[in-house]
Amino acid sequence: MKSEPDSTEPAPTDPLAGRRILVAISGSIAAVKMPLVVSALVQRGAQVRCLLTPSAAQLVSPVALACLSRNPCLLDADQWSHQASRPLHVELAEWAELVLVAPLSATSLGRWVHGLADTLLASTLLACEAPVLAAAAMNTAMWAAPAVRRNWELLGSFERVLPLGPAPGLLACDRQGDGRMAEPLQLLLALECLQLWGWRRDWSGLRLLVTAGPTREPLDLARCITNPSSGRMGVLLAQAARLRGAEVTLVHGPLALDPQLLAGLCCEPVQTAAEMEQALLRLQPGFDAIAMAAAVADHRRQQPLDTKLSKHDLAAELSTGWQAVPDLLAGLVARRPAGQRILGFAAQSGDVLPAARAKWARKGCDLLFANPIDQAGAGFAVDTNQGWLLGGAGGGAGGGAGGEQQLLSASKLAIAQQLLTALRP
Ligand code: CTP
Repeated sequence: MKSEPDSTEPAPTDPLAGRRILVAISGSIAAVKMPLVVSALVQRGAQVRCLLTPSAAQLVSPVALACLSRNPCLLDADQWSHQASRPLHVELAEWAELVLVAPLSATSLGRWVHGLADTLLASTLLACEAPVLAAAAMNTAMWAAPAVRRNWELLGSFERVLPLGPAPGLLACDRQGDGRMAEPLQLLLALECLQLWGWRRDWSGLRLLVTAGPTREPLDLARCITNPSSGRMGVLLAQAARLRGAEVTLVHGPLALDPQLLAGLCCEPVQTAAEMEQALLRLQPGFDAIAMAAAVADHRRQQPLDTKLSKHDLAAELSTGWQAVPDLLAGLVARRPAGQRILGFAAQSGDVLPAARAKWARKGCDLLFANPIDQAGAGFAVDTNQGWLLGGAGGGAGGGAGGEQQLLSASKLAIAQQLLTALRP
């Protein structure tokens, strides 16, 4: 069995590249964010067509969307034409491989869930058999109105639909509360999840605890020990699980990521391994599964200084006074309640598989994902990853004989989807 992917294999592609994506925009002020989303999709190689409701066309320019999508922007007036051989809504519905409805207004939601087909958007959604990501946006009181609540619940029961509820914040109507559409980065992430995994919420009713990022151990007032982990693998794992229906808590060290990537997660920021350990001790009992993706420091100062050492004193000071950081993953395994599944990670250089086998046996977790950190396109602070998953199909806890599955180079989100499938209790 070879331990590294063959270097002649094709480079991993963006899951959205080449996809035919219909972007449907309805009447909420959040429509002004959509040109950025359309532009990002086109830059990632997607084929994009835009559809605007009449209210959306008052808020965002159809000309801008036509230019950015490289396709005519479609309006209600285009729906019926004696020059078209097929109705536009049928042609669009059959063309699209993915549909993004963002923002989804109260009116468009109502039409959709009640099967009214009196506009281009409503009839396209009814005719469409492709997966749909729907991101609501509206005034707080409208979102709380019983009619909208009922309609949103109904939409949640639709097959093929991934609904993204609005976030709290300051709204354009000057209200503070729920109503803001998911940010552009969130829409792109959710679309990628929809393409990779689909709309099935197989983690519904399950609670997942994820750790991510480095820890930062202080030396003195001006210096610390840390590592180059950005937190990306753990955060994407948390987001993918949330979109698959899990209730997710993320305990994370200092991240080097766009904060938009944390939207919708319940976050517990920490700095040191000791703080992470305290959070894990408190949280562990309530979870069905844990993914320990954090890059925890191995050593820390016994007594960090509350002054700044001069550079001349630094070398002498660093030669003594260290202590090992306890293995948090081993602690989780030792304390775990019955039925709790635990995934560990292993950052390796050199030959990954033998080292991973030894680490998996030592740590005793159900699953261990070992990835190289000495190869381009894997490890710290990049968008892709690859490696070996130990303990998957046929695997048992405590290092018993289990599956060894090679995960070939793919986006970290695609790797996250595979890990979630293996980890699900
Ligand atoms: N880990 C942990 N506590 C530590 C160190 C690591 O919980 N003090 C966890 C990591 O979150 C990861 C797994 O253990 O899930 C493996 O981490 P890794 O850094 O690869 O291994 P180490 O145990 O530190 O071993 P080594 O440095 O010798 O490779």
